[in-house]
Amino acid sequence: MVQLEKLFNPASVAVIGASRTPGKIGYAIVNNIISSGYRGKLYPINPREEEILGKKCYKRVGDVPEKIDLAVISVPAALVIGVAEECGQAGIKNLVVITAGFKEVGKEGAALEEELIAITKKYGMRMLGPNCLGLMDTHTPINASFAANSPLRGEIAFLSQSGALCASILDWSLEKGLGFSKFVSLGNKADLNEVDFIADAAEDPYSKVIVGYIESVVDGQRFVEVAREASLKKPIILIKSGTSKAGAQAASSHTGALAGSDQAYETAFKQTGVLRARSMEELFNLAIAFATQPIPRGDRVAIVTNSGGPGIIATDNVEHHELKIARFTKETVEKLRKNLPPEANVYDPVDVIGDADDRRYAFALNTVLADPGVDNLLVLLTPTATLDPLKVADVIIDVRNKFPEKPVVAAFMGGTKVVEASEKLSRNKIPCFPFPEPAIASLAGLVRYNRHRTTAKDEKEYTFKGSPDQVKEVFQRVRGNGRVVLLGSEGAEVLTHYGVPAAPIKLAKTPEEAAQLAGAMGYPVVLKVASPKILHKTDVGGVRLNLGTAQEVEKAFVDILDNVHHYLGNVEICGVEVQKMVPRGRELIIGMKRDVQFGPLLMFGLGGIYVNLLKDVSFRLAQGLSQAEIERMLRETKAFTLLKGFRGDEPADIPAIVETVGRVAQLVRDFPEITELDINPLLAYKEGVSALDVKITIAS
Ligand code: COA
Repeated sequence: MVQLEKLFNPASVAVIGASRTPGKIGYAIVNNIISSGYRGKLYPINPREEEILGKKCYKRVGDVPEKIDLAVISVPAALVIGVAEECGQAGIKNLVVITAGFKEVGKEGAALEEELIAITKKYGMRMLGPNCLGLMDTHTPINASFAANSPLRGEIAFLSQSGALCASILDWSLEKGLGFSKFVSLGNKADLNEVDFIADAAEDPYSKVIVGYIESVVDGQRFVEVAREASLKKPIILIKSGTSKAGAQAASSHTGALAGSDQAYETAFKQTGVLRARSMEELFNLAIAFATQPIPRGDRVAIVTNSGGPGIIATDNVEHHELKIARFTKETVEKLRKNLPPEANVYDPVDVIGDADDRRYAFALNTVLADPGVDNLLVLLTPTATLDPLKVADVIIDVRNKFPEKPVVAAFMGGTKVVEASEKLSRNKIPCFPFPEPAIASLAGLVRYNRHRTTAKDEKEYTFKGSPDQVKEVFQRVRGNGRVVLLGSEGAEVLTHYGVPAAPIKLAKTPEEAAQLAGAMGYPVVLKVASPKILHKTDVGGVRLNLGTAQEVEKAFVDILDNVHHYLGNVEICGVEVQKMVPRGRELIIGMKRDVQFGPLLMFGLGGIYVNLLKDVSFRLAQGLSQAEIERMLRETKAFTLLKGFRGDEPADIPAIVETVGRVAQLVRDFPEITELDINPLLAYKEGVSALDVKITIAS
C-alpha cells in the first residue's frame, strides 16, 4: 500500500508560488494552511517576497534550511517542471500540484504531464494532481487547498475527481453541520489516484466511511482488488458520472481517461461491495447515514408514525428496497395494545394516531426498539396541534441512546413547524428527512452494506486448472490459418480443455469426410457451415438438422455449400462442421466481453434466439469471481426460476452451471488474448451441461 501519512500529516509544508496578494491562489493556500490550525512548519516560496502572512519567505525551495515533507505547487504550468525538479533535488517526497494546464487541455498539456510524472518517478516522489484544488485533513489539521472554507471535523473521507464539486460540497457541508476526516481533490490523477486514497482511508482510524465522486478509475483491476478489501473494513459510497453517452464523452474530455463501460462499473461496484449512489443527494444521504449510524444486524424495519399515509408510503419503500417490515413478538404487540388508544395500529407500521404527544411516541419507540425482531427504526412525524416536534426529537435522541446498536432515522414532514426539531435531530446524529423515501433509502444502504460484509467476508476466487498449453495450440493453429475468429469446432475444443462439456463437433472438408465423421460420432447429426464470416448460419441456409444416414449427410453438405454461395457469393468457407444432435435442455447463455478498465466481463442468462429481446442477463467480472458470487449471478436472472424447476419441471443441474461459469472465468483470466466469447446456447440438463454453439474471438 502507498504510504500517504506525510501527505496528510506533514511536519513541514512549502507552498511554491505563495503570494501576498489576496484573491490569488498562492495567497489562499497559505492562508488556509494557517487558518486551519496547522501546527507544523510552513514555508512560503516566492522569489520576490521576504514574508507572506507573517511567515518568512524563501526564494526557492532549495533555500529552506530544514527538511520539507510536502510541497504545494501553484506556479503557472510552464514553471511546474522546473519547480518539481527543485523539489526532487531538495529531497521532498510529496507534492500537491494545484496548477492546471496539463492533460486536460490536450496534447501539449499531456506531454507536460508526462514530463512531470517522469520527474516524480526519478526522485521517488508521490504526487496529488495536477489540476486539483488540494487536500485537507481535519485531524492533522491542515487545509492545503485554495477552497473558500475549511471543513468541519468529522468521520467522512471524501475524494472527488472534480475540484469545483469539492468546493461546493464543502460550503454546503458547513451549512449542514457535516464533518469530514479527509477531503481530497484528485485532479488529473497523474500519480496518486482514487485507489490510493480509498486504501489509505480504509486504514485511517478517523475515517468511518469513504465517499467519492469519480468519472473513471485509473486501473480497474487494482480498483477491484483494493475496493474489495477496503469495503470489508468500512463502507465505500461512490457516485460515478458519465453513464450516458454524452456524459461519458464529457467525462473523457474532462480527465482524458478511458472510461470503460457503465455496465462494467456497475458490476465492479456490486462485486466489491461499493455502494453506488445515483445522485449527489443520495451520495450524501448515505454518507450521513454511515457516519452517524451503527451497521444494523438485519433488514427488519420498524416504523412508528402519527399518521397512516406516510406510514404506508414508508412501508411501500421498505419492500421496494428489499427490506422487511418487522414482525413484533406477542409481548410487544400486547404491550402496545394495552397502552395505546384502541384506534392505534399495534403492528408494524405502528400508528400512534393523530392526537399523539411526545409521551406516546416515547412509549411506542421504547417498546418497538426493545423488540428483538427489530433491526432498524424509522420515526415519522406530521406536525399536529397535540405534539411539540422538539419534544419528540428529544424522545428520539433519548431512545437512540438506549439502543445504540440499532440505526434510527426520522422523517419529520412539514416546514416551519418541524425545522428546528429536524435540525436538532441532525445535530444529534439522527438523520432527519422531510419525506419517508430518503429515510428508508438510507436504511437500505446500511442493510445492503451489512449483507455484503457478512456474505463476502470469506469468499475466495473460484479457480480451475485447465490445460492452457492445449488451448495455446488451438490459437496458434487459428492464427496460422490467418483467422482471429474460431470455428465452432475450435471453440468447443478450447472449452473442453477447460473442463466445459461441449457437444461433439468436427470440421469436414468434403461430403465423404462429413459422412465418416458422422458415422464415428453416431447419428443423428447436424451440419453447419464453417465460416468466420457468417454470423447467422440459419439465415443463409447453412444449417441442416437431424441427419440420420451417410447419404443424408453427404447431400446436406452439398446443399449447404450451394445455399451459402447462392446467398453470399464467394464468401470464405472453411468447410462444414458435423455436430452430434444432443437432447434439448434449458437454453442458457454465457458470454464474455473485455472491458478496457475491468478486463473480462461475464454475462449469464437465458439463451437461445431471444437473448437480445428478453435481456434476462446478469453480469460479473471474472477477476476474483467466487463460487458464491456466481450463484448470486445466476439467482439475479429470471432464468434461475426456470432452472430451479418451474411448475413441476425437473430442476437443472445448477452446480454444473456454476462450475461452467467458473471455468469460463478461469479461461478468460488465463488468456487475455480472448477478446470475446459466447456460448449460446449452453444446454442445461437434469445432470450436466453441454455447450452447443461456441464463438471465440482472439486478438490478432
Ligand atoms: N517559485 C515560487 N514562486 C514563483 C515562482 C517560482 N519559481 N515563479 C513565480 N512565482 C510566484 C509569482 O511571482 C506569483 O507570486 P506573486 O503573486 O507574488 O506575483 C506566484 O508565484 C503565482 O504566479 P503567477 O504568475 O502570479 O500565477 P497565478 O497565480 O496567476 O496562477 C496558477 C498560477 C497555478 C494559480 C494558475 O496557473 C492555475 O493553474 N490556475 C488554475 C488552477 C486550477 O484551477 N486548478 C484546478 C482546481 S480544481
